[in-house]
Amino acid sequence: MNVADSDALRNALAGRGCETAAAPDEADLIVVNTCSVREHAEVRARGRIAELAAIKARRPGCRLWVVGCMAARMGERLKQDIPGIDEAVPAEELADPERVVRERLDLKETNGAAGPVRGISEFVPVMRGCDNYCAYCVVPYVRGRERSVAAEEIIREIRSRAGNGMREVTLLGQNVNSYRDGGLDFPDLLKLVAAINGMERVRFTTSHPKDCTEKLVITMAESPKICRHIHLPVQSGSDRILGLMNRNYTAGRYRSLIAMIRDHLPDADITTDILVGFPSETESEFQETMHLVRDARFTTAFMFAYSVREGTAAARLPDDVPREEKIDRLNRLIALQTEITRGQYADMVGRELEMMVYGPVEKRNGTFLRGQDRGCRRMLLACSGIPAGTILPVRAVRSSGMTLIAERV
Ligand code: 5AD
Ligand code: SF4
Repeated sequence: MNVADSDALRNALAGRGCETAAAPDEADLIVVNTCSVREHAEVRARGRIAELAAIKARRPGCRLWVVGCMAARMGERLKQDIPGIDEAVPAEELADPERVVRERLDLKETNGAAGPVRGISEFVPVMRGCDNYCAYCVVPYVRGRERSVAAEEIIREIRSRAGNGMREVTLLGQNVNSYRDGGLDFPDLLKLVAAINGMERVRFTTSHPKDCTEKLVITMAESPKICRHIHLPVQSGSDRILGLMNRNYTAGRYRSLIAMIRDHLPDADITTDILVGFPSETESEFQETMHLVRDARFTTAFMFAYSVREGTAAARLPDDVPREEKIDRLNRLIALQTEITRGQYADMVGRELEMMVYGPVEKRNGTFLRGQDRGCRRMLLACSGIPAGTILPVRAVRSSGMTLIAERV
């Protein structure tokens, strides 16, 4: 979502004549988009903003904006703590980037529109905000109420971008599966998007387990254009912890969801988010998470140690899992999932896959094309001269970390 918001803001600025600077010390406007989901993200952003404020101070006329979730949560405090921040633009306002630029930037001396930057594979937000109030999560407080973008507007936007060369779209939302526009639900929207001329691939993220329906999975199975990847954050394998987290499903229900997905889409990549060290989580409850991870065979997972977010329901619970214990659980979990991921990648070796070409990359051992299969796997192919957006039949010949090395068939 932050990448999508940053792209949209950059395009709005380009539309008013701004060009991308090569480095911060050549910029007239520096924008930092921020994330508040974990404490670590905020600590890093603060450090970065302070560095950029020092660069800004040496450049007369240069402006510094802090945008996104930290601006929403503590914009004024940040301005006090770090002198030099000119504007703090909360995440919700980024839904209308044209307005952000119009209202906050005085552009008397521009050279006309530079035109938006358009790529082969792009993000399009279909809904914003979240109403789920998971106990640990700050998103509902910083991104506001759940609201869906009108289907008509989404289709118009994607059609126009397809006309500009976009071949793959990722529909975005904190919880895409609760998308609604009148009688139209998320699977209906997926079908409409997949039918757009020029759209070769449709992806989406993120799915909340409580809203991931069989209709969604059947819709995916029926359309070859919808990619075989579901990101389905589980967070924990313990029913007691899931209850405290206010997730509205049990580990058993999550397991049956996975079985249902594998039944319709045997080759789909299922990925997840997991949070360890939630208040009062015991070692044996953590073992239930390990157990679920062993069974689920996720392709990859994002794994985190719990950090208190001010204002959330969980902030009222004692943060009583010691830091060393959280880190130890996280390391054991990462070790387990890394081994599963390695196996999942090794399993692909020898298989024929469809690779969408994103563009060329230079590596130490030559020029490659980088791309992605129909699931969530990044690929490299020793080859050149094939335009981005092409879908090539390839065979995976080996795996290197989380990348598949492929050859043409
Ligand atoms: N502490 C640690 N991880 C968190 N996440 C959300 N809130 C917190 C928090 N307070 C994780 C969840 C979510 C992902 C985006 O970030 O796993 O799915
Ligand atoms: Fe946060 Fe839960 Fe909403 Fe995801 S579904 S954004 S974890 S409140």
